[in-house]
Amino acid sequence: MRNYLITGGAGFIGSNFVRYLLDRYDDIRVVVFDKLTYAGNLDNLLDVQDDPRYRFVRGDICDKEAVARAIQEHEIDTIVNFAAETHVDRSIVDPDAFIQTDVYGTYVLLEAARQFHLERYHQISTDEVYGDVPPGRSSTETDPVAPRSPYAASKASADLMVLAYHTTYGLPITITRGANNIGPYQYPEKVVPLFTTNAIDDLPLPVYGDGRQMRDYQYVLDHCEAIDLVLQRGRIGEIYNVGTGQEMENIKMVEILLDELGKPRSLIQHVEDRPGHDRRYSLDVSKLKALGWQPRHTHEEAIRKTVRWYVENEWWWRKIRNGEFQEYYRRQYGQRRVLR
Ligand code: NAD
Ligand code: DAU
Repeated sequence: MRNYLITGGAGFIGSNFVRYLLDRYDDIRVVVFDKLTYAGNLDNLLDVQDDPRYRFVRGDICDKEAVARAIQEHEIDTIVNFAAETHVDRSIVDPDAFIQTDVYGTYVLLEAARQFHLERYHQISTDEVYGDVPPGRSSTETDPVAPRSPYAASKASADLMVLAYHTTYGLPITITRGANNIGPYQYPEKVVPLFTTNAIDDLPLPVYGDGRQMRDYQYVLDHCEAIDLVLQRGRIGEIYNVGTGQEMENIKMVEILLDELGKPRSLIQHVEDRPGHDRRYSLDVSKLKALGWQPRHTHEEAIRKTVRWYVENEWWWRKIRNGEFQEYYRRQYGQRRVLR
C-alpha cells in the first residue's frame, strides 16, 4: 500500500496523474493537496471524487503546518510535487507567486519529507531549466541548468534545492524534467488549448514572432506513465528527462490543429514575440527509455487527440473562458502588436 500526497493534483498534469494512479493500482491512497489557484479546478477530478481511495485537501504548499498536518493525518509516505505557478507569460508580468510557490513551496515540502522520514519525494520539473538549446544538440540530465524566464529560473532553483536535500540529508528524491504536455484539462492559457478554443470560436490565433520556435508536444498520459515508472524503478538521487525526443515547429502544430478542426489558416495572426522566448527545447530521453519507457503518441497524434477532447468537452472550458480568463486575455493580448 502506498500513500501519495499529490501536491497540485487539481491542475492539468496532476489531475491526469491522479486518474492514472487510481486506474492502474488498487492498493493505493491518493491525497490531493492543492491551493486551488486560478489553474486549480475540482472539475478536473469530478470522475474520481467518490472513489474511497481518494481525498482532497485544500492547502498551500508554502504553509508548513498545513503540509505537516496532511502528511500526519493521511500517513503519507510519498510526495509527488506538481504544485507550481506554470505559465511563462504570467511569470514575465509578475514573478512573485513563482518565487513563493515554485521555490519556497518546494523547500517547505522537502523539509516536511525530511522531518517525517518519507520513503520518496518526487519533483515534477521541466525541460525549460536547460534554457534555449542550439540546433544539433539535445539536453542530457547532466547538463548545467541555464534558465532564461522567471518561471524557468524558479523551477531550476527548486531542482537545485531538491538535489541539495539528497546530497546533504540523504533524502530519497527523484526528479523528472518534462517537455510540453498536452491533453485533457489543460487551462486554456497554454498554446494548444488556447488556440483550439479560439479557433472553435473563429477568433485569431496569436502566434508569437515567426512561429518557428520548437517544442516537444507530448501527450500528458505518456508523461504520467513515465513519472510512475521513475517512482517504481528510478534510481534515488537521479534526474530523468521525459519527452518524445523529437521537436516540432509551433507553426506546424498550429496547422495540424486547424486541420483537425476544419478551420482556415487565415485564423493565424503573427504577433509581437514573448520577451526572451526560448527558440528551441530538445531532450535526450535515452536514460528514461533505458528503464523500459516508450511514448505511445507522436506529436501529431497527441495534438489531434487533444483537439478532439476540447471539441467534446466544451462544458469544461467554456466556463473558464467566461471567467477570470477574459481579463487575463485582454491584458496579455489586447495591446500586442500584430506583425502581419
Ligand atoms: P497547472 O498550472 O495546470 O496546475 C498547477 C496546480 O498547482 C493547480 O492545481 C494549482 O492550484 C496548484 N498550486 C499552485 N500553487 C500552489 C500552492 N502554493 N500550493 C498548492 N497548490 C498550488 O500546472 P501543470 O501544467 O499541470 O504543471 C504541473 C507541474 O508540471 C508543474 O510543476 C510544472 O512546472 C510541471 N511541468 C509542466 C509542463 C506542461 O507542459 N504543462 C511540462 C513540464 C513540467
Ligand atoms: O516545456 C515545458 C513547459 O511547457 C512547462 O514547464 C510549462 O509549465 C508550460 O507552460 C510550457 O511552457 P511553454 O512556454 O513552452 O508553453 P506555452 O503553451 O505557453 O507556449 C508554447 C509555445 O507556443 C511557445 O513557443 C510560445 C508559443 N505561444 C504561446 C502562446 C500562449 C504562442 O506562439 N502564442 C501564444 O499565445
